[in-house]
Amino acid sequence: MKLFIDSAKIEEIKEAEKLGVLDGITTNPSLIKKAAVGKGKIDMEKYIISIFNAVGKKIPVSLEVVASDFNEMVREGKVLHKKFRKHGNVYVKIPVNPCLEDKCSTASDGIRAIKLLSSKGIKINCTLIFTPEQALLAAKAGANIVSPFAGREDDYIREMSRIKFEKEDYYPSRGKKKLGKILSDDGIVSGIDLVAEIKMIFRKQGIKAEVLAASIRNKRQFREAALAGADIATVPFSVIKTLLEHNKTSEGMRKFVKDIVPEYKSMLNKGRKGK
Ligand code: E4P
Repeated sequence: MKLFIDSAKIEEIKEAEKLGVLDGITTNPSLIKKAAVGKGKIDMEKYIISIFNAVGKKIPVSLEVVASDFNEMVREGKVLHKKFRKHGNVYVKIPVNPCLEDKCSTASDGIRAIKLLSSKGIKINCTLIFTPEQALLAAKAGANIVSPFAGREDDYIREMSRIKFEKEDYYPSRGKKKLGKILSDDGIVSGIDLVAEIKMIFRKQGIKAEVLAASIRNKRQFREAALAGADIATVPFSVIKTLLEHNKTSEGMRKFVKDIVPEYKSMLNKGRKGK
């Protein structure tokens, strides 16, 4: 599973890049807003170029369109591609359905925009996916990546059942019971179940689009995304930092450091400059 960082903050991207195993970056309008806060009037083009410059040229960077109708989504997608392709590996992020309410007359504009932009060779990450059906249509239209939002799916299932939760709270991938019944959103029992079902459908249907587990809230959910067969997980910096943590690892390190015998250390130092 590839590891992407879900952030537009340069410091976080640079810090995550130091891990040596970062495969990509995803941004969205809210993440750009968070990154811009406190920076005064920002030159957005320069700022985004600095995101590309923080990583290697081949690293995929997803940038989202903000329009909600076909013509504007296509125009913005082309602008993002043209402006930044010389700086790195641009993926244009297109919402699967740009309606601002449950229903509207432009529900298919996202899929149509994906079809047109991908036919021009622009790489697409289709975002805001909450059903396997949305993922299937996005892939049929030519999306290279589909992004089911695991954490927000868990939020939705809890909200519908009036279960209180904190953003980082773990939600079991096999679902949760209330009054003896497994809670679900039209048969999807958790965000990870959504990822797993999309993956299963893509395998059965021979679809090549990559499945990116988005909206990851904690390290256990990251693990479960891998178990579900996600091709990519995009992870906030706060969660990336926890991926290497375990009390017993630090305790073990303290004990090993305490137990080093001088002969072992000097053997390792033999031949070092000045020794
Ligand atoms: C995906 O690409 C999105 O940027 C993201 O994962 C959303 O996560 P959130 O639900 O934590 O905002």
